[in-house]
Amino acid sequence: MHKIISLTGMEILDSRGRPTVKAICRLESGITAAASVPSGASTGASEALELRDGDPSRYRGRGCLQAAEVINTTLHTALSGRVFDTQAELDLMLIGLDGTQNKAHLGANTLLAVSIAFARACAYEQGLPLYSIFDSLLPGIEAQYMPRPMINLFSGGRHAGGQVAIQDVLVMPVSTIEMPDLLAMTAEVYACAAELTQERYGMRLLRADEGGLAPPFTRVENMFELAVAAIERAGLKPGADVVLALDIAATQFYADGRYNLDERRLSAHDFIALLAAWRRAYPIVSIEDGLAEDDWEHWPSLMQALGGDTVVIGDDLLCTNPSRIRQAAETDSANGLLLKVNQIGTLTEAAESCMLANRARWKVTVSARSGETEDDWLADLAVGWAADFIKIGSITQSERLAKYNRMMEIEGETGTRMAAWAT
Ligand code: PGA
Ligand code: ZN
Repeated sequence: MHKIISLTGMEILDSRGRPTVKAICRLESGITAAASVPSGASTGASEALELRDGDPSRYRGRGCLQAAEVINTTLHTALSGRVFDTQAELDLMLIGLDGTQNKAHLGANTLLAVSIAFARACAYEQGLPLYSIFDSLLPGIEAQYMPRPMINLFSGGRHAGGQVAIQDVLVMPVSTIEMPDLLAMTAEVYACAAELTQERYGMRLLRADEGGLAPPFTRVENMFELAVAAIERAGLKPGADVVLALDIAATQFYADGRYNLDERRLSAHDFIALLAAWRRAYPIVSIEDGLAEDDWEHWPSLMQALGGDTVVIGDDLLCTNPSRIRQAAETDSANGLLLKVNQIGTLTEAAESCMLANRARWKVTVSARSGETEDDWLADLAVGWAADFIKIGSITQSERLAKYNRMMEIEGETGTRMAAWAT
């Protein structure tokens, strides 16, 4: 039993210097907890909506003063003095107060900030770590292993001024099961990638939204070649010590039935063949948003070409939305879910998405957004929901490192390790 006494909302700034929302939840016991929410740039069309002020004279319309006000007035009035036995009870009430399919009325940013602040307050009240509260949202889940991080090395697309079409090349150290080793290996690969960028492009400090290096690649393939060279320069073996994961974010360069990258204008069929060729040529183990979010017709072919030995992840395709996940499972369109809680708006709905992915025997990757805050709840969520992977961004910016550091803390506290990598 948890009785809310007050809810407070604030506009704060995210890692891009854009407004986002923080909520503070106070319980009758005197326990107070806060949570802040992230925001995407390459957002899926089916994502729940954020409430933003739309006043062009302030933060170019992106202000969150109204969102803070919704928490201070509407949500505070409706929820304070009420007792909730479970997170689901609170979330269902939030969903009911909003009353729309896509959170267009009160905003997914306001609802999620309150949903997580409440979860954290309940954890504090019971003297439990946050991951065990998340754990209880998914009955039957047992966090046997820590999620393995996939870490942003090179960036393109919307996160890096569009200099190269695809959004992320990520590295995943696989020859360790411990976070401190994994981060040390990643740091060495990143340092080598920065040196190589300096040597080949005469620059090293150009960084994208998630801290990935963003030299002016002329072809997508240059990203993979440089990633492999960086792994080798770090004294590690591509494919054995470190593998690659890609976020193609294909919706961003899809128009009129064609995938437009570099000078190439490819049909879905030809683009799938190109992805399969990259998969053969480089140590790639997972491909996210390999096709556009509404190209449902071709996702089953992508799965046929790659699904046997590659994690075929839907991000914009699925938007952490249970009905899109059901559709993808029924049509065999993916075998991996990118789980971003703010794409759907409450913890309870995101838990349903995770459960559906588990039931379909998909891999689950819990993901940050390109605009993040210093809050670290994402690490607890990924552990609590026993995700296979976690995708936070690079290891060079504090809004990302807060979560990596929390992963190390949890690993130390629980003694849990990552699963050994099976090739
Ligand atoms: P976003 O990018 O937060 O800008 O949507 C992250 C991703 O595409 O995975
Ligand atoms: Zn993505």
